[in-house]
Amino acid sequence: PSARLTLDPAFRIGPVDPRLFGSFVEHMGRCVHTGVFEPGHPLADADGFRTDVLELTRELGVTVVRYPGGNFVSNYRWEDGVGPVHERPARLDLAWRSLEGNRFGLNEFMAWAAKAGVEPMMALNLGTRGVAEALELVEYANHPGGTALSELRRSHGVDKPHDVRLWCLGNELDGPWQMGHKTAAEYGRLAAETARALKRFDPGLSLVACGSSNSGMPTFGSWEAEVLEATYEMVDYVSLHAYYDPTDGDTDSFLASGADMDHMIRSIAATADHVGARLRSKKKIMLSFDEWNVWYQSRFGGESSLGWTEHPRLIEDTYDVTDAVVVGSLLITLLRNADRVGVACQAQLANVIAPIRTEPGGPAWRQTIFHPFALTARHARGQVLRVEPECAVIPTARYGDVPAIWATATHDEATGETTLLAVNRDRNAPCDLEVALPGGMRAVEHLELADDDPSAANSAEAPGRVVPRPGSGARVEGRRASLRLSPSSWNIVRFA
Ligand code: AHR
Repeated sequence: PSARLTLDPAFRIGPVDPRLFGSFVEHMGRCVHTGVFEPGHPLADADGFRTDVLELTRELGVTVVRYPGGNFVSNYRWEDGVGPVHERPARLDLAWRSLEGNRFGLNEFMAWAAKAGVEPMMALNLGTRGVAEALELVEYANHPGGTALSELRRSHGVDKPHDVRLWCLGNELDGPWQMGHKTAAEYGRLAAETARALKRFDPGLSLVACGSSNSGMPTFGSWEAEVLEATYEMVDYVSLHAYYDPTDGDTDSFLASGADMDHMIRSIAATADHVGARLRSKKKIMLSFDEWNVWYQSRFGGESSLGWTEHPRLIEDTYDVTDAVVVGSLLITLLRNADRVGVACQAQLANVIAPIRTEPGGPAWRQTIFHPFALTARHARGQVLRVEPECAVIPTARYGDVPAIWATATHDEATGETTLLAVNRDRNAPCDLEVALPGGMRAVEHLELADDDPSAANSAEAPGRVVPRPGSGARVEGRRASLRLSPSSWNIVRFA
């Protein structure tokens, strides 16, 4: 097959918001403990942070990290995680039926975030707690001093306020699995009252209202409408969450996951705009896709299968080449919607459905999905361009006909670089792609993630089995470039 597309810096969707390259650290399994934090590890620094994981986090290009959950936050007492470590209580974590020793909490996370060079995105417990506790946490974290809670923080050795700008008003409260699960009416009211109080504390805070846990929820769409109806003028974002896996071995549908994510984004943007129209509001609600990834949910035995142990091995999915192609296509989807999605967080950062894996006391390595994320975060800069490939379609059982080529591009005026990101969803045939370019450009690099064995993966023993390799290269003649996209491949092509 062949395909054509045009790259024209005049056709812009919007700027690339660095917050699209976010990640997520939850107190779940080994994401925190023996993931980012492992005192006693040969590579741990004085704070107990694994420097190998810190280096990989920086290399991944992560910009913002959501913390401390996830389901975990909905029964979390933030006070348990601050102050002298030996005085901190052990608690039952009901979300993951684990034991939480609280040796890592808010101040440790902020110290880690500073070292990683990432912006914190804090989630509040609106499951088992409410407005008062949310305000207390924000005062502890953000107020300079002279009040009970800001002085408490200072007595804990943190003189300057953390000044966290981005706050999630709870997590997945539409889900019956959530501690403190609520109806849309109950949650909408609580989110509105919490948002009103937080904006009184600091009108400059950015607040995220919980959207649906996934697009299969019976209240998908109506939940967002009812919650936004109650919170519209007080929040800045509504959240979306989506996880994909090749259910029943349906790889063609799996490779088309970006089509589903795209549909979700358009549906929730339309829902938010509908509420805005009814409220006669001029405000535009942005979307925070603050949990997305490939997750083999069928391999997870469920929360009831877990005992009360500390940081058990939980959903440590090993990712293969096809998973990396899908992750690359989800990033393409987020960029294609850069005018509407202002924050996105891949879930999660270390060990738990993560691009970075570690062994306790042992090495850290890059999973296959690390690579499309790192290259996209490094090179997708400037403005997102509108790219509409002319190509064949692939029939899928779950999403109908989808375009075989899924692509986006960015143009950075500062460097003059144009970056094309493209996935070939066809598992059986390469695609010859013709690209119409502005004049005077040359091809800098074409890297692809593809393999004769799509089930190949990286491991502690073979951490470099799957890495991006040079693709066919782009041949530029005048205003035209031609290149070949391998079957089932993710590609990055840079022009300057
Ligand atoms: O990322 C794993 C879990 O998935 C999160 O805790 C929850 O918010 C979602 O259901």
